[in-house]
Amino acid sequence: MPPLLEAVDITKRFPGTLALDNVQLELLPGEIHAVVGENGAGKSTLMKILSGVYTADSGEIRLNGRSISPANPREALMLGIGIVHQELSVVPTLTVAENIFPGHLPTNVLGMVNYKRLFENASRVLEDMNVAVDPRALVETLSIANQQLIEITKTLSTNCKVLILDEPTSALTDNEADRLLNLLRRLAANGVGILYISHKFKEIFALADRVTVLRDGRYIGTETIANTNADQIIRMMVGRDLGAMYPDKGRGSDTALLEVRDLRRFGSPALNSFKLYQGEILGFAGLIGSGRSELARAIFGAEPKEAGEVLLNGLPVDIRSPKQAIEHGMGYLPEDRKAAGLFLDMSVKLNVEAAVIRQVSAGGFVTASKEKTLANQYVQQLNISTPGIEQEVRRLSGGNQQKTLVGKWLAIRPKVLIVDEPTRGIDVGSKKEIHFLLRSLADSGVGVIMISSELPEVLGMSDRILVMHEGAIAGEYSAADATEEKIIRTASGQKGE
Ligand SMILES: Nc1ncnc2c1ncn2[C@@H]1O[C@H](COP(=O)(O)OP(=O)(O)OP(=O)(O)O)[C@@H](O)[C@H]1O
Ligand SMILES: [Mg+2]
Repeated sequence: MPPLLEAVDITKRFPGTLALDNVQLELLPGEIHAVVGENGAGKSTLMKILSGVYTADSGEIRLNGRSISPANPREALMLGIGIVHQELSVVPTLTVAENIFPGHLPTNVLGMVNYKRLFENASRVLEDMNVAVDPRALVETLSIANQQLIEITKTLSTNCKVLILDEPTSALTDNEADRLLNLLRRLAANGVGILYISHKFKEIFALADRVTVLRDGRYIGTETIANTNADQIIRMMVGRDLGAMYPDKGRGSDTALLEVRDLRRFGSPALNSFKLYQGEILGFAGLIGSGRSELARAIFGAEPKEAGEVLLNGLPVDIRSPKQAIEHGMGYLPEDRKAAGLFLDMSVKLNVEAAVIRQVSAGGFVTASKEKTLANQYVQQLNISTPGIEQEVRRLSGGNQQKTLVGKWLAIRPKVLIVDEPTRGIDVGSKKEIHFLLRSLADSGVGVIMISSELPEVLGMSDRILVMHEGAIAGEYSAADATEEKIIRTASGQKGE
């Protein structure tokens, strides 16, 4: 079978970075081809070149054997190449339907947008996708997961021949991800070629026919899924064996660092109480939308509390803003790095020190050398791939943006650290680093609350696990008692046993 799409000797240089160095890729019709590699390996850059966002410095793209050079995404789409980007590009202030059909809204005889038709068309494609949202809703009112589904629906509705998905499931629940994977299988069965980027090995092995590995902007190899395994792929990605993904469990203590008593958020009837002990990693499991992030945000003062008490070291504290929370020694790494975490236009250095400005200032002055030490320390510790600490965060790869956010919250040296999906979009090697870093924080006496939708991560990391269902804590398990099955049952509202 002749290839549907070929990338031949693609090279792309950014100031200070050789992002792609003579990279190859071949996609057959009807094939699902995974592209993997560490954060910053060049995956998104290659996909952006194939879809007309960037132009390669050298190399060739062939579609059905013919050389093409799409000058922009619209041209690529006209050639039949569509992409779902890693970062959401939906317009929050427009409706779902307007987001799905940008630029080709149906019009009436007077040239005005025919909203009735627009909403009907949108309903149809949403139904095909199995997405239960109102096409009239403003996108900003949707959950991140639904926004991502709209993003995907938008590209799928173009009927492209080559479909590129760059980490499409990073904000989806397992159920939603499964539905998407089934849909992709159907599309492939109809001859669509799919390039699929993911850090989730489970998905890659369940979905892909072949996998291509990039490392440091170079092509390492392509394997048939049936003839390879996760260990081999990891070795190709990072150049060595990784060993255990999870550190040993903690020693625990019975000093309560944080206590939450009958906390009620606005708009939720549930009263939540729990304790976080010194040196412990407390996992929060639950379905997306079960109220874990909202509870965390209420504790951190990012959302109002309607009732209840928060105690730190046994003393009640009145935290009404994130600023006050930070002053009390709390940190919160939010799940949505773009909206609530990072200043994309600012440097790595300024982001790392954003929450900690006091720590780097001696006698009221921010000393340049202290600033540098702090930022460099986290760039090294977290292995952030950047030409330097002055680089704007928007120029980092997705995973390296996430690592910068982790650095920002480590830098305040919190006593209580809440991390919300801390390893989302992070490659296996760095994921392991972050796991061990969180454990060493806990071992030094910090109390860590870890919200994660990845069950193996919750089980692998936590000393104790709380499971939320519909806004309330519905179950508690010790590390020894917890199993995936018990957690899933509790999270979906069934009794744990
Ligand atoms: N617009 C840009 N300006 C400067 N450097 C960039 C730009 N886009 C990407 N880079 C750099 O190119 C390299 C490859 O980035 P890319 O986004 O392709 O990585 P990736 O494999 O998609 O990583 P991730 O898994 O983290 O998403 C990185 O070192 C990144 O910092
Ligand atoms: Mg990327």
